[in-house]
Amino acid sequence: MTIINGAHVLLGVTGSIAAYKAADLASKLTQHGAEVDVILTSGAEKFITALTFQSITGRKAYSDADLWGGQAHILHVGLGHSSKLFVIAPCTANTLAKLAHGQADNLLTVTALAMSGSILVAPAMDAGMYEHPATRQNVSVLQERGVLFAGPAEGRMASGMVGKGRMLEPAEIIGHIRLTLGRGGALAGRRLVITAGGTQEPVDPVRYLTNRSSGKQGYALAQAALDAGATVRLVTHPTGLTPPVGAEVVEVRTAQNMLDEVLKSCEEADALVMAAAVADFRVQHVSEHKLKRRDGIPQIQLIAAPDVLSTVAQERGKLKKLKVVVGFAAESRDLIENAAAKLNAKKLNFIAANDISATDAGFAVDTNRLTLLYADGKRESLPLMGKDEAAEAIIARVANLLE
Ligand code: CTP
Repeated sequence: MTIINGAHVLLGVTGSIAAYKAADLASKLTQHGAEVDVILTSGAEKFITALTFQSITGRKAYSDADLWGGQAHILHVGLGHSSKLFVIAPCTANTLAKLAHGQADNLLTVTALAMSGSILVAPAMDAGMYEHPATRQNVSVLQERGVLFAGPAEGRMASGMVGKGRMLEPAEIIGHIRLTLGRGGALAGRRLVITAGGTQEPVDPVRYLTNRSSGKQGYALAQAALDAGATVRLVTHPTGLTPPVGAEVVEVRTAQNMLDEVLKSCEEADALVMAAAVADFRVQHVSEHKLKRRDGIPQIQLIAAPDVLSTVAQERGKLKKLKVVVGFAAESRDLIENAAAKLNAKKLNFIAANDISATDAGFAVDTNRLTLLYADGKRESLPLMGKDEAAEAIIARVANLLE
């Protein structure tokens, strides 16, 4: 998470039972290399202590005592100007109302007024308070003013009631934080289409042909592109992975579905990164009914599935905005020769070649060892790295080509 590493984040915590999750949020941010300064309201201190946060972040956590304590000169201004991002999680209905009205009666709200960077709010409130017209109005006032919202989610609340008002889980809030920190990045204003996962080609109503792609590399690419400020459409085969916050997700099953969605999405896109493992073959006659054992061993005839990248190459003249197309080559032998042939045949800007015979690269593992081959003949070998890092490396090169 390069985007979080080294970021300075202010975390405001208010008086909600969800305050305990703020400790987890502070912990995750700290583990990913952020410097986290926490401000607690007096309500928050009823649920959790400043010591909890200090122990997690290794930095002083502030409360209202510090506002009046006189240790730091104009503390709120210092805090408000020290960070590009103020995350208020959980944010109660009361603090939301104070923010909407510009009230400044505690260290958290006074810092929010002094804040020059972005404010991201993760509301937490029970029993229909979020739907109350007063709260609705406060939310829209804040949104008009540019305050960003993460949630709340629907679900069971502490009261036992079910409704909208649960604070998002820390991992989702981190997704929103990444989205906010990424704004203005190298791909700001760019639209990327990224594909992921392995095709499902039906045999009958219950069976399909698929492959071992986990979708991890494609999802990591989508996250890296979002971190760089891009608008991302993730066209994915079913994976079971949680999509990155902010991606427009379109789920497809067959190679034909993938082709249709990619062609449509590329009309508006600046770049396409095809990380999906698309089927080369599909079943000619898909059985309408379940194939039965009593009918004997079925003879299944395979025919060619559409080649998405080759079709994009043929349609390139019509896809006016599309400037960069990147493919992957999963090979078990003759890596460079095979990848170079695909680079040329599919008219790619570059291809990421992946040796799937290695146990630490390729399908269903968390690492990849990629060689990038470019259309101009240049070659670049990346060391063994996590799929997240590999994604960042590829997205950085896409951004360079789009410049
Ligand atoms: N690809 C595609 N449509 C297909 C098959 C693959 O667009 N029907 C894309 C993949 O997403 C990848 C690139 O083409 O970016 C290379 O995929 P790969 O499976 O390595 O190559 P194939 O062209 O399918 O050739 P082969 O399987 O014979 O090696």
